[in-house]
Amino acid sequence: MSISKPIYVTEPQLPPLDEFIPYLEKIWDSKILTNGGPFHQQLEAALCSYLGVEHLALFANGTIGLITALQALRITGEVITTPYSFVATAHSLLWNGIKPVFVDIHPQTLNLDPAKIEAAITPQTTAIMPVHCYGHPCDVDAIQRIADNYNLKVIYDAAHAFGVKCHCGSVLTHGDLSVLSFHATKVFNTFEGGAIICPDAKTKVRIDHLKNFGFVDETTVVAPGINGKMSEINAAFGLLQLKGIDAALARRAEIDQLYRQLLPAIRGIRPVGDAGETTSNHAYFPIMVEADYALSRDGLYQRLRDNNIFARRYFYPLISDFPMYRGFASANPVNLPVATEASCKVLCLPISPNLSSNDILRIINCINFFDK
Ligand SMILES: Cc1ncc(COP(=O)(O)O)c(C=O)c1O
Repeated sequence: MSISKPIYVTEPQLPPLDEFIPYLEKIWDSKILTNGGPFHQQLEAALCSYLGVEHLALFANGTIGLITALQALRITGEVITTPYSFVATAHSLLWNGIKPVFVDIHPQTLNLDPAKIEAAITPQTTAIMPVHCYGHPCDVDAIQRIADNYNLKVIYDAAHAFGVKCHCGSVLTHGDLSVLSFHATKVFNTFEGGAIICPDAKTKVRIDHLKNFGFVDETTVVAPGINGKMSEINAAFGLLQLKGIDAALARRAEIDQLYRQLLPAIRGIRPVGDAGETTSNHAYFPIMVEADYALSRDGLYQRLRDNNIFARRYFYPLISDFPMYRGFASANPVNLPVATEASCKVLCLPISPNLSSNDILRIINCINFFDK
């Protein structure tokens, strides 16, 4: 029996290697390796223009971006966030000595449920950190209304939301700050990388200081900043990656379409819908494995693995179930019924520009085995 090639939940998008060599030659000539060099500056400008945002500060990765975003706004006390995300969301709070307060998600969007936020606000609450999960926009207007009423800051973990647009343009312009990840698994990658999107030049200057140890000039340090700088190699790579991003997003849209045409015919499999975005990035393809499907969610996950198809259970376990979080009162599963159910039902199917339509059919056939 021939072993079919492995299909992973995602495969990083890489440009032709020879196209990267001229960028490396420039770095070797200039000997500028980091600290806001020419490629760093060019990538910041190019991303502002591509994403339709005013100010953007590049980072070594999204997690340091989140940690720095909290520092930039001097967030303390308690922050309301979602348990249904990658651990870095809540880890960024603990790294700042902030207490995460978990609030349940909305059953359709799987994003923080605005209707449940107010009940979690205490005198210690200073901010809300929602996540645009799978690149599906949060209910940004409802969240902003609550933030305005209670004088809270909003920092979006927008790690999944590169290029996503909602009713009023880029989803990244909402809230006080948004943080992107350019990790290898993301729609747009710089190997490792990330960025903070901020509304004004003054905030960007503060963020730029914080990501460079707090240095303002050679002899002035204004804050206990961190080393969050993106190197010239990563920035140069990002510039090259941007050339291929539209084609990559277009191929993701085609794959999403193919899944949506074929999957609903399978009893018990329900693709998670969008959340009203006007432009999606199709970063993930989450499905709900319902009780009337032939296998449990974990049974399907294993069946796919046995066939060399590596789907992922994003997000299982919930952040609130990890040992460093489960002691918080808000982490009690009784407080989080929708997130708990979603984490037991969701499976993210492979989606990446390199997948062929035959690859997608192979995945669908493997899910649809019982009708054969
Ligand atoms: C929702 C979310 N937040 C934060 C991160 C952290 O980003 P990075 O890996 O760039 O540090 C990730 C993914 O990696 C993520 O999926």
